[in-house]
Amino acid sequence: MESESRQAHWENVYTSKGENEVSWFQESPAPSLALIAGIGVTPASGIIDIGGGASRLVDHLIDQGFRDVTVLDLSAAALEAAKARLGERAIRAHWLVADATNWEPSRVYDLWHDRAAFHFLTEEHDRAGYIAKLKQGLKIGGHAIIATFALDGPEKCSGLPVMRYDPALLGQTLGAGFNLLRSHGNDHATPWGSQQRFQFSVFQRVG
Ligand SMILES: C[S@@+](CC[C@H](N)C(=O)[O-])C[C@H]1O[C@@H](n2cnc3c(N)ncnc32)[C@H](O)[C@@H]1O
Repeated sequence: MESESRQAHWENVYTSKGENEVSWFQESPAPSLALIAGIGVTPASGIIDIGGGASRLVDHLIDQGFRDVTVLDLSAAALEAAKARLGERAIRAHWLVADATNWEPSRVYDLWHDRAAFHFLTEEHDRAGYIAKLKQGLKIGGHAIIATFALDGPEKCSGLPVMRYDPALLGQTLGAGFNLLRSHGNDHATPWGSQQRFQFSVFQRVG
C-alpha cells in the first residue's frame, strides 16, 4: 500500500471512530507495561511507540516518570486524540506524524515499542523500510517490543490484511542483529467482546 493511501485510511479511522470503537482499544496496555518493566529501562531512557495511535501507553509511561517518550503515528488525528486526553501532560511527550517505513530518525532510542503496526506491512519493501528505520533508530543494546497478531490471530485488522507471526518468524523477518529475549501469547478482548490472539516479543539489538 502506498504511504498516502495508508495515511488516508488511518486518518479516516481516527476521525470517524471514538477511542473505544476500534478493535485494538485497551483500557490498560498491561502486556506492554509488564514487558517494559522487565527490560531495565530508566526514567531517562528514550522510548518510542511506533504506530502508537491513540493508545494509553504514553499516559502510563508519563505517569511512571519516563521523561523521554515519543509517539509516532501516520495519523495526526490519532495523536491529537491522545494529546487531548492527556491535556497538560501532553507536553511531557514528543509527537511525530510519520510513516514508520520511511521516516528519518534524528536520534536513537533505548526502547522501540510497536503494538499492531508492523503487522500491517504485507509487502516486502515496506517491511525492509521499517527494519532499516528500526536499525537506524534503536541503539545497539537497546530493546524492541513488537506485538503482532499471532499465527492463529485474525487475518485482518481495521479492514486491512495483516501478516501474522510467531516469535521465531518475527525474529527471522527482522534478520540478523536482533536476539529474541522473550515472548508470550496474549488474548486481547475487543470492546465488543471477541478475542484476538497476539504475540508479544522482546528483542535486543546486538549489532
Ligand atoms: C491497530 S492500531 C494500534 C494502535 C496502538 N499501537 C495501540 O496498540 O492501540 C495501528 C496503528 O498503527 C498506525 N500505523 C499503521 N501503519 C503505519 C505506518 N506505516 N507508520 C506509522 N504508523 C502506522 C495506525 O495509524 C494506527 O494508529
